[in-house]
Amino acid sequence: MQRRPRRNRRTAITRGFLKETQLSTSNLVQPFFLADGTKVKDEVKSMPGNFRMSIDVAVEEMRSCIELGIRSFILFPAVDESLKDKRATYGSSANNFYLKAFEVFKSEFGDTVNLITDVAMDPYSSDGHDGLVEGDEILNDETLPILGDMALAQAKAGADIIGPSDMMDGRVEYIRSVLDTNGFEHVGIMSYTAKYASAFYGPFRDALDSAPKKGDKKTYQMDPANKREALLEAELDFSEGADYMMVKPALPYLDIIHVLKENYDIPIAAYNVSGECSMLTAACQNGWLEFEKAMPEMLLSIKRAGADVIITYFAKEYAQMLKDGKLQ
Ligand code: PBG
Repeated sequence: MQRRPRRNRRTAITRGFLKETQLSTSNLVQPFFLADGTKVKDEVKSMPGNFRMSIDVAVEEMRSCIELGIRSFILFPAVDESLKDKRATYGSSANNFYLKAFEVFKSEFGDTVNLITDVAMDPYSSDGHDGLVEGDEILNDETLPILGDMALAQAKAGADIIGPSDMMDGRVEYIRSVLDTNGFEHVGIMSYTAKYASAFYGPFRDALDSAPKKGDKKTYQMDPANKREALLEAELDFSEGADYMMVKPALPYLDIIHVLKENYDIPIAAYNVSGECSMLTAACQNGWLEFEKAMPEMLLSIKRAGADVIITYFAKEYAQMLKDGKLQ
């Protein structure tokens, strides 16, 4: 007897019958870059097909995503330089257009959408860092109350899930307690648990104009060489009350997604970041890769590694391909 694995690959029906991993639109999260004003639709140069949108434009874009079955969105603010300061004050200020956006989306779509926030100082900070800067240092404990205020303002605006992307120690516990003492026990926390100091965030920093003015983020984001440290971060986030644990970026860190999935019983999220998407887009624009084949393969690999949910700039395009019957 010869074992012949090819028997199980012989026809399309058999291959579909035996498919181990399925990726549906309900697992995907579409990021939006929001800007102040009206009728703004400004393409991000290093992210073709992605736009900084004012709220009115974003409402219509959200509607078209919903029609394709995308229900989860993560929102980021592109803030005018003149509104930035050392303490990221605008992040929790009452007239912040970003907070207004949650109110508008929720009044328009209610609980048919799942809205995830971004908690970190960098979009609002004149230093371009995720925490408070003093000299060459990024202060940890002094940053927590600022993150807490930001999270509370987002919960009040109607957010479903708070997304701390800052990597300060102890911030999940801090935010959880601020939410709970203010009557927001039902609002979740998707923690950026294993967020690496990665070169793949470049295009995102262009989108928000949020690159650090000085230094880098290596004293708070993780070293790409480390895997066991991700388990330590996970242990802390789990015990501090995170509802989801995220790995970021996704593709160069599939082993990290896998190890967290094996060790923890809460949902694992993966962030297929800007640089991962832009390098694929660039190769496709050059005719070096075929988008409709390479993009779904990339997303599927992230799911196969163990991600329950995937944040990706390709969410809408994937949903469109599914609708068009191109993903059999
Ligand atoms: C910062 C933040 C970053 C991203 C999400 N939140 C960049 C950074 O840490 O500098 C990157 C997302 C992407 O590249 O798509 N708080």
